[in-house]
Parts: sequence; structure tokens; C-alpha cells
Amino acid sequence: MTDVRIGLLGLGTIGAGVVKILESRRAMLEERAGCRLTLAAVADTDLTRPREGLDIRTLPMTGDAAHVLGDPAIQVVIELIGGIEPARSFILRALAAGKHVVTANKALLAHHGAELYEAAGRRGVTLGFEAAVAGGIPLIQAVKEGLVANRILSVFGIVNGTSNYILSKMTDEGVDFSVALKEAQAHGYAEADPTLDIEGMDSAHKLQILVTLAFRTFVDLKDIHTEGITRVTAQDIAYARELGYRIKLLAIAKATNGGVEVRVHPTMIPAASPLAAVAGVFNAVFITGDAVGDLMFYGRGAGQMPTASAVWADTLDIARRIAHDVPALALELPSAGPGALPPAPMDAIRCCYYLRVMAQDRPGVLSRVAGILGENDISIANVIQKGRGTREAVPVVMLSHEARERDMRRALAAIDRLPDVAAATTMIRVEGGRA
Ligand code: HSE
Repeated sequence: MTDVRIGLLGLGTIGAGVVKILESRRAMLEERAGCRLTLAAVADTDLTRPREGLDIRTLPMTGDAAHVLGDPAIQVVIELIGGIEPARSFILRALAAGKHVVTANKALLAHHGAELYEAAGRRGVTLGFEAAVAGGIPLIQAVKEGLVANRILSVFGIVNGTSNYILSKMTDEGVDFSVALKEAQAHGYAEADPTLDIEGMDSAHKLQILVTLAFRTFVDLKDIHTEGITRVTAQDIAYARELGYRIKLLAIAKATNGGVEVRVHPTMIPAASPLAAVAGVFNAVFITGDAVGDLMFYGRGAGQMPTASAVWADTLDIARRIAHDVPALALELPSAGPGALPPAPMDAIRCCYYLRVMAQDRPGVLSRVAGILGENDISIANVIQKGRGTREAVPVVMLSHEARERDMRRALAAIDRLPDVAAATTMIRVEGGRA
């Protein structure tokens, strides 16, 4: 029986999950792959910290990644270090040495995917990254293989478990942002640097990867309009709820006339929509293809075992190919298609908007605000004034009909210049129709 030798870079939360799955399901995995699976080396800078559920004394630990990268008998390298460097250099070395690579590193792929795909293609090896997007949901495989016959029209959803966990806690329990963030970190959902999660970058990384596969176009991260959840307040969550909406951090890509909209931002969606029911660390992604119609993918988007499950999907596929002499094809790697769509400018998008204007409660203020919206071609669907103020500004909450982003920004700048307006107006985009 062929022996496929695997080297693991990084024995953190996900790495430990990968080893646990091998230890507990080896017989089944080997039977499915048709080969023996040998964990030949595990490299980590920390050789002493106990990993729950594992006896690291029984593992082939090394403090030096070169023992993985320089071992000619290791055919598959699983990179679970995260971050850009040294992960990028390690993967490039592994690929150059003719090793197949499996990674969960969405930040690296979003920044340097083209370089890595090209390196893998040149060497005729596989670069698997199922675990990089939406944790345990087999989304990459579905987009890459299952939907190959489709022109994809849109991909959107919740792809950051930490932000969704925080927003869910804030919505359901009324806890503060900071309390909810600490809990998410304690559960091991958040990135080492939680800024990536809460400022929307982690969602943007995953969206960049999905767009590459779904629309066959490489979008630069700087062309993805990215807003996180740090400015979402309990007040806006409560007003959204009163209006029949929930606030979620959505990653959105839509084919438009001659381009593709790619954006990440807090979004109000009708409380009755399936995405609104996606709570806690769960992810959900909707895809519309011209042949297949609408699809919904749902599952755990973060956490040790779901992500390790995705790592094994790729690893087993590679092991099976090695065992049965099936070559890796450059064709299987992400690439730009003929007529790849360029990213559409954010200014040109159209959607409905929620506004919270902090205004003095004086005669004529509302008409001045409404006048500015009207002058900018924005029609109001709904207005509620919350409370009555004599001296303090009061929140005036509005929902617009569909409007153009460029017009909305111009209107907001003018509204915020009004002497009756006390603070910058909060604007949240609304998707998914009326509540
Ligand atoms: N920090 C990520 C999340 C982990 O919260 O979704 C999975 O990529």
C-alpha cells in the first residue's frame, strides 16, 4: 500500500484538530484514500504547550519548519500558521520542491493567491484551500466543481463567525460589543488579531477568494469596499428590530452591467429572511447561478473541528490522487477567465438605506433633511422620530427607497453640515427587500 507522508506546519487550534481527526479516524480515512497516511513531521515554535486532546510527546514534533520543507519524503504540506510571512515563503518553498499544499490561510490567498496558484501550476502540484473560506462548509469544492456549468450571478452571505457571533449576542442578549468579542475569542473563533474579524477584513479575504472562483476574476483587496461591525450600536440594532430587520455583516458579490460589485459591510436584512436566522458562529452563503438557480450553504464557519474537517477534505483528495497516480492539473487552479469582469465602483451600487440622523427637535428640521434627500434623487420610505428633545438632539430614523450610493454620500455630507444636526449620521445599507 502506498504511504503518503504529510508534514504539518503549525500546531495551533486548527492543527490540533487535524491531528485529532487523523488519530481518531485513521482507518476510515486510509480506506477512503486507498493509501497509508503518515504524519511525518509537525513543526511549531512552541514544543511544550499542551494541546487539549493530544499527547504531543507521541507526535513527530520539530521546532524547525525546514524539517518539513526539506524532507524529500514528505509529499503533502498542511500550512496552518496563518498570516502572510513566513507562511508565504514556506508555501512557495513547498510548492517549488514539488509538494502538494493544503492551507486554511485566507489572508495569504487574498493577498498573494495569484502568485501561489501560478507556482503550484508551474510545478504540477495541488494547492487546496477548502478550509480558507466558511470553515467546515464545503463551499470551495461546490463553487469550483459543482457549479462549473453556471455563470454565477451573485454570491453573498455571512462568512465571518466572530462578527456574526458578536452581532447575535448584541441582538439577543443586549450585551456590549466588548463583552461579546471577549466571548468569541475565548471560544477560539477570532483571528489572532481580532481586528481582521471586526473590521471586516477577514470577510473581505474570503470574498476575494470566492469571487476569484465564482466570477473567474482577480479582484484586488483594495477594490473591495470593506466596513466592519465596530460602529454598529445597540441603538441601531434595536431600531432595526423595531422596523422588522436584523443587522448582519454581509460579504456581497453581484454581477452588474460589465462589472462585479464586491463589498463587505453591516447590512440590514428583513428579520424573516433565512440569513437573519443564521446565529452565532454559523456562516451561510447564497449563490445564484444561471443554470442551477438559487443555492444556500449553511454550517459552522469557524472553530477547530469544522475547519479541520475542511483541511482533511483537501488532504484526502490529494492523498487519493498520489495513491492512484492521478496528476494535478493546472486547470484545477483558480485563474482569470476570458472576459473577466472588473470590480464595479462602490459609488455606482444601488440599494435601500437606513439613516439615523441626530437632529435638534425643532420645526422645519425634518423638512430640511428631507429636502436634501429629495435634491439628491433619494426618496424616503419611512421616518420615525425617537423621543422628544428640548435641548438634546434626538434620533430621526429613516428608510429610503432604492437609491444610488453616490447620491446618498452627497446627501449625507450635506445633512451633516446642517446646523440642526448634532453628530455624523449613521448609514446602514439595506438588502433583501422590505421587512
Ligand atoms: N476568524 C474567522 C471567523 C475564523 O471568525 O470566521 C474562520 O475563518
